[in-house]
Amino acid sequence: MKTIINLIVNDQPVEAAVEPNRTLLQLLREDLGLTGTKHGCGLGDCGACTIIMDGQPVNSCLVLAVQANGREVLTIEGLADNGKLHPIQQAFVDNGAIQCGFCTPGMILSAKALLDENPRPTENEIRTAISGNLCRCTGYQKIVEAVQEAAKSIDGTEVS
Ligand code: FES
Ligand code: FES
Repeated sequence: MKTIINLIVNDQPVEAAVEPNRTLLQLLREDLGLTGTKHGCGLGDCGACTIIMDGQPVNSCLVLAVQANGREVLTIEGLADNGKLHPIQQAFVDNGAIQCGFCTPGMILSAKALLDENPRPTENEIRTAISGNLCRCTGYQKIVEAVQEAAKSIDGTEVS
């Protein structure tokens, strides 16, 4: 039996009828067509499905759609502003922090959650914040540099 849920996704109200076992990841990708959120392991291990829910980064493969009822969700599609990349997205492009791109949406949303809470993170704090996001391609260094540059451009000051 389906349940009606109401949530906000990328600033838009959404109403959906979902089965009790439907995940938030399935709702986003299959029902709403927001395929920027990636389906990697489906087990909470890879972070490819990371979205921000009520300000916190979460693995959407581990959240039931019914648990998102009444919540506010941000996916990678909600970051750009009228076609202008968010500073974190721009920094990933500028720093060569994207190779295959599979980890990138989740990585960027983990970085956003960090910078929203801590605009001037240390390198260790950045590495900790993205530790749940696996990347098979970049070796992480360029991703860390991109987050450092994004922090500078958002905050307007140097970071340690
Ligand atoms: S797909 Fe959700 S953590 Fe891997
Ligand atoms: S860029 Fe390929 S997994 Fe990260």
